[in-house]
Amino acid sequence: MQRVLNVANRLPVTVGSSIKKSSGGLVAALEGVSNNNFRLQSIGWPGPVAEQDIERLRVELERDYHCIPVFLDDELVNGYYHGLSNSSLWPLLHYNRAYMNYRDQDWEAYRRANQLFADTILELADEDDLIWVHDYHLFLLPALLRAERPKLKIGFFLHTPFPSSEVIRCHPKRAEIIRGVLGADLIGFHTFGYLRHFRSSALQLLGLESDMTEIQVGNHRASLGIFPIGINSGSFSKQLASSAHEQKLDEFQRNWHGKRIVLSVERLDYSKGLLRRLEAIETYLERSPHRDEVVFVFVSVPTRGEVKEYQLLRERIEREVGRINGLYASVQNSPIHFIHQSIPFTDLCALYSIADVGLVTPLVDGMNLVAKEFLACQDDSAPGVLVLSEFAGAAQELVNAIIVNPYNKVEVANAIDQALSMGIEERLGRLHYMKERVMKYDADFWARSFIDELLQSEQLRKQPRDLLDDESAFTRSLSNGGKVAFFLDYDGTLREFEGKPDAASPTDELHAVLQALATIPADIYIISGRAGETLQQWLGDYPFTLIAEHGNRYLSAGATQWRRLNSETDFSWKEPVIEIFKLYEGSTPGSSIEEKYSSVVWHYRLADPVYGSWKANQLLSDMYSMLGNLPVEIHHGKRIVEASSMNVNKGRAVEHFVHACNYDAVLCAGDDQTDESMFRLPDKRLLSIKVGEGETEADYRVPGVEHFHQLLLRLVNRIQAIRNDGKEVGA
Ligand code: UDP
Ligand code: G6P
Repeated sequence: MQRVLNVANRLPVTVGSSIKKSSGGLVAALEGVSNNNFRLQSIGWPGPVAEQDIERLRVELERDYHCIPVFLDDELVNGYYHGLSNSSLWPLLHYNRAYMNYRDQDWEAYRRANQLFADTILELADEDDLIWVHDYHLFLLPALLRAERPKLKIGFFLHTPFPSSEVIRCHPKRAEIIRGVLGADLIGFHTFGYLRHFRSSALQLLGLESDMTEIQVGNHRASLGIFPIGINSGSFSKQLASSAHEQKLDEFQRNWHGKRIVLSVERLDYSKGLLRRLEAIETYLERSPHRDEVVFVFVSVPTRGEVKEYQLLRERIEREVGRINGLYASVQNSPIHFIHQSIPFTDLCALYSIADVGLVTPLVDGMNLVAKEFLACQDDSAPGVLVLSEFAGAAQELVNAIIVNPYNKVEVANAIDQALSMGIEERLGRLHYMKERVMKYDADFWARSFIDELLQSEQLRKQPRDLLDDESAFTRSLSNGGKVAFFLDYDGTLREFEGKPDAASPTDELHAVLQALATIPADIYIISGRAGETLQQWLGDYPFTLIAEHGNRYLSAGATQWRRLNSETDFSWKEPVIEIFKLYEGSTPGSSIEEKYSSVVWHYRLADPVYGSWKANQLLSDMYSMLGNLPVEIHHGKRIVEASSMNVNKGRAVEHFVHACNYDAVLCAGDDQTDESMFRLPDKRLLSIKVGEGETEADYRVPGVEHFHQLLLRLVNRIQAIRNDGKEVGA
């Protein structure tokens, strides 16, 4: 049976004075995943443990609870869990910038803790295992695992919302976080909104383009999917049918005889909207003639008490509950019944069952299982009504609830009133569809669909090989004593991009690489879309051939005259093209036009990436309809749209020189669409390298400009060594 290493910060049990079941939605849902289809093996932190107990607990947790513990010392827990996870990630993931407290030492601890998780998994994992990583505590884990074992199948599921890129960008380590997650083969979210925010963050913060269901990062493709989590429906059905449930229900009914119960259950967390809810309850109490009949039961499970914001919240809630009870209590009733502790499952189910209203009003919540559990415990004889915040992920599914804006206390107070006075027909009508859905799409269904999709997430398309895998074969084929040529693109390949194209002159580091290249017995061509004058000014002192404007003109090494590579003379198309480009320049802030001898370019690198791409697509469609039979080719390159003379492209230029000089081995390197015409040439002598991310037909890939420099230096070293001594040296 397929084994799944299920990795979450929290194990299903936590070690304290004794070993107890952990709280929270993640643990609750995973408890509902049956072991019929696959074997889940939990790996996680068991809570703070004294040094001398570690070995005993390791054995006990594995033997009695089938859990593999990752023990973390107090300092690490402080930085990784209380610090980075709960004090900077959790607030941002829940749109609360004001509560974000970031410290560098917490980040260090977070990295170390993620590495410890990685070490535990790597020791345990077989080739056939699936690794399923959960939640924000372990954002770095997928990439750490991928770096060590590229072939592992890794899934990541986020149990919280993923916020807008405008919010996540506040985190000092936002890029590392997103890159870490992108190490997974499949990344799951509760809702489409969270997926959309993740994609736009990858674009806005890392410049990674994606389509609806996948993001390409170097050689790796991460699929994205929506998997709304469900409850452990089986355990609720079983409990509701038990005599223990009947007894408990009976006890509660006697206790609250004649009262209407409005129930809220949650961890005492600022994301759950308790203070706002108290305002709404006060508004309800102020004006309701029935207030003596209603009891608001709050089950507030203690959580993250080491974090200051949680301590302050608890104090404020207790103060408010006391104040409201003081104001509205009567001889018959005290309106708010506040329970600040975790309660047993039997009590929880009985409470859900006797409640007339489930009041679930988080300000933001990934899913909210309590809403679903409340519905699972309703029956046709006394169906309760769910009042649900529109900001809970569950609101997307539970559409027959009374949906409220938790920030609007009058609306919530009205909803309480409406729910309490709703007739049985309407209550039943609302309940049926939702309950059916909740029971059917449960935690087990959720886990099965995620794991099935993870199993299917094979890398379908042809991927270029990682050069490191067969670098020596590659260098041998280039350095076996024959005539060798290099065709190297400039921007994005030899030189990193700059905001303004003019600012990308060669750096000292690049000069060092070029000087090294100049020493080997090979012909070097710099092949670029740039104007010839710029190439000459920056690179004219090297013994290289410069090929400008995508292969329109070239300047041979040592020559003074530029020569044409094609016989094109008709440039009458340029004027109308420039007119259109100007319209787009005007309507797209940050974009600009560059005119070259045989082409015109619209750059949108400095524009908003989403708006820029959208305008580029519009521009392309305008161009296609306008150009008709004009002798023009359009390239959609990296943040550029370029119109150039037909028959001018880099592939043709390379073909020309390879044919004229009859090389034995040729290396072409480039980073964008315009370089693909070289990579596509059907010539066996040719080796192609894509620099950076994105789709390509190249044979090999290196991650970026810096890696490409290092590669060139290693190549120079080897070619020289082989040619001088007949044997290889250096790494
Ligand atoms: N829960 C619990 N202990 C309690 C009361 C409730 O563990 O005393 C469970 C509850 O049944 C639910 C989970 O905690 O399954 C809360 O999940 P939810 O998704 O609502 O919120 P989260 O805590 O994950 O933010
Ligand atoms: C949320 C998080 C879980 C976490 C749970 C309880 O549901 O998504 O990852 O386990 O809250 O919080 P805690 O900090 O006690 O683990």
